[in-house]
Amino acid sequence: MDLYCVMGNPVAHSKSPWIHARFAELTGQTLRYDQRQIPLDGFKTAVRSFAAEGGLGCNVTLPFKFAAAALASRSSDRATLAQAANTLSFKDNQILADNTDGAGLVADIEQGAGIDLQGRQLLLIGAGGAAAGVLAPLLLAQPASITVCNRTLSKAVDLVQRHAPLALIQQTELSALDLQKLNNQFDVVINATSSSLSGAAVPVPGSVLKPGALAYDLMYGAAAHGFMIWASEHGAQARDGLGMLLEQAAESFFIWRGVRPPAQQVLAELRAAM
Ligand code: ATR
Repeated sequence: MDLYCVMGNPVAHSKSPWIHARFAELTGQTLRYDQRQIPLDGFKTAVRSFAAEGGLGCNVTLPFKFAAAALASRSSDRATLAQAANTLSFKDNQILADNTDGAGLVADIEQGAGIDLQGRQLLLIGAGGAAAGVLAPLLLAQPASITVCNRTLSKAVDLVQRHAPLALIQQTELSALDLQKLNNQFDVVINATSSSLSGAAVPVPGSVLKPGALAYDLMYGAAAHGFMIWASEHGAQARDGLGMLLEQAAESFFIWRGVRPPAQQVLAELRAAM
C-alpha cells in the first residue's frame, strides 16, 4: 500500500494520521499514513530509511521543518522563502520539499472564515519559523499591505527583506515595524508568536483591530485561547489554527495524490469530535 507518515518529536499528539486517513476515505484513495517519533539527532537517517522502505512522502513537524528544507534535493519557491518544509516527496531518488502551511492559512481564511484577502491590510505578529512559513502565500493572496511586527525588530526586518522581491511583484506594501510603534488598524491580524506558551499576554494592543476584523491564531486548542478571548473582547472575529491544520494537510495530500480532499468538511467533523 502507498505509504506516508508524519515525522516529529514529539509526534504522539499529531492529528495528521487521522486527518489523512479521513481524506483518503472521502476521496477513495488507498494509502497508509503512520506517525514516527524521530530522535532529535536522527532526522536525516529517518527520512532516508523511510524512502528506502518505499515511503512516498512525509509530513514534517517540529523541530525538523528547517532540517527538512536543508535536506531536500529541490525545494518549492514557498519552502525556499520560508527556509522550512513540512512536506517531503520522494521521487526518482530525490527528496522534494514543499511548505503547505501558508497555503493552508490562506485557504482557511478565504474559504473557512469567508474573507477575501485581496486589498486588505494585514498585521503579522511574530517573525520566527511560524511567521516565515506563511508570509509568501499571504503575499500571493495580494493584500494591500502586510506589516510584520516582532519583539525583536531585526528578525522582522530580515523576513521582510527576504520577501521584498515577491512583495514588489504582488504590489503589496510590505514593512517591518517595532511592536511599540503600532498605531494603525488592520482588517486581519495574525498571531504567529509563541507568546501564549510562556503564559505571556498578546503582545499588541487591542487598538490594532478594526471593528469586525479577523483575528487569527496559527495555534489551536489551549495555546490559542488567550488570543481568541483577547480578540473577542475587542470586537474581532476570532479564529484558531485548526482550519489551517486541515488545509495544510489537504495541500500536502494534493501534492502527493493529485486529488483535493474536502478540508472544511473534515474540519467540521474534527471540531465536533473535539
Ligand atoms: P515558531 O516556530 O513557533 O515561530 P520561534 O521561531 O521560536 O517559534 O518564534 C517565536 C516567535 O514568537 C518569535 O517571533 C518571538 O519573538 P522574538 O523573535 O522576539 O523572540 C515571539 N515571541 C515568543 N514569546 C514572546 C513574547 N512573550 N512576547 C512577544 N513575542 C514573543
